[in-house]
Amino acid sequence: MKLDAKALRYMTNEDFRVLTAVETGSRNHEIVPVTLITDIAKLRAGGVKKYLGDLAKRNLVSRMANAKYDGYRLTYGGYDYLALKTLSKRDSVVSVGNQIGVGKESDIYVVAGSDGNQCVLKLHRLGRLSFRNVKNKRDYLRRKQSPSWTYMSKLSAMKEYAFMQVLYEHGFPVPKPIDHNRHCVVMELIDAFPLRQIDDVKDPGKLYSELMDLIVRLAQHGLIHCDFNEFNILVGDDGKPILIDFPQMVSTSHPNAEEYFNRDVECIRVFFKRRFQYESYLYPKFRKDTKREFSLDVKVAASGFTAEQQNLLESYMEEISEKNPEINDDSDEDEDEDEDDEEEEESDAESGKDDSQEKHSSDERASCKNTH
Ligand SMILES: Nc1ncnc2c1ncn2[C@@H]1O[C@H](COP(=O)(O)OP(=O)(O)OP(=O)(O)O)[C@@H](O)[C@H]1O
Ligand SMILES: [Mg+2]
Repeated sequence: MKLDAKALRYMTNEDFRVLTAVETGSRNHEIVPVTLITDIAKLRAGGVKKYLGDLAKRNLVSRMANAKYDGYRLTYGGYDYLALKTLSKRDSVVSVGNQIGVGKESDIYVVAGSDGNQCVLKLHRLGRLSFRNVKNKRDYLRRKQSPSWTYMSKLSAMKEYAFMQVLYEHGFPVPKPIDHNRHCVVMELIDAFPLRQIDDVKDPGKLYSELMDLIVRLAQHGLIHCDFNEFNILVGDDGKPILIDFPQMVSTSHPNAEEYFNRDVECIRVFFKRRFQYESYLYPKFRKDTKREFSLDVKVAASGFTAEQQNLLESYMEEISEKNPEINDDSDEDEDEDEDDEEEEESDAESGKDDSQEKHSSDERASCKNTH
């Protein structure tokens, strides 16, 4: 979905109060009753209905027509708004520019901070595709306490920020983390292209060994990227690689660490052979080359992103990919609506990505994508 930053300007304090009340109520209710929204917002009941109507027109909340009670739920647009409002109060984001990327489960925008510097805003949309797919699976919908997309997107952003911070502090080539709130991360804008878009490099052997060294150095610090591929490596004019996109990262103590490490290595080998016809018999081995020297995995846990949250996020991703193998390829064709499911009054705001944006090719992608 497009981020509608203009909506911010037209929001009154009352709109904001009501929207925040819907978010607060969502912690315990999938569909938040209007009576509860009224209690939390502490506004007149008639007033609240009017504000809810206005917010629904702007796709910031959506009304659930067939529920047993009159209720609303927050949309992606509403959640975006709440995060942007917080980030703009802190001066981390003062204006929103163009969308520069649309990933499977994120939208990427160029934004400006208070000093006028351009940065990147990444909105995590965990459950965008998965939600669309799982919503047809009734057992999933009926399961009590399935984690909400807002919570899972927030966890994914927290994880990315925590890893980026620790990596940046330890001199790894990653964007400088600037701020985060809810499902959003603000980071340095890297003036570079994804390796996938680069047809020629001056010295493929040099880049190859820099990338292998990076995989090894990460493992020596206790970490495996798990999605180390041409989509998540940016290369600038100076030929230096910058690593992005950390929501899948795991510790080298993970039971499948060796498999994930080998997969990252293999992705680079396969890509270099295909794209640059470069093949080397030298490549790192997990058992031999990854003697642990630091424990950044432990540091991340200490930074506030707990092992429990990590496990929840991991099992959610696993569950989603098991139930929806099609999520791992990019054929975004699953447009069928569940006709008799009237509860799902899906707004445009939640209906998936903007097709005008470039999508990754499924063939290229499938070889490397690693969803645990
Ligand atoms: N800090 C940044 N500076 C410049 N460009 C960036 C930055 N972060 C992301 N991008 C651009 O946005 C694209 C998607 O970013 P990212 O990989 O973090 O999102 P994603 O949702 O995981 O995407 P995917 O599913 O494609 O992996 C990148 O390929 C890159 O072109
Ligand atoms: Mg990516």
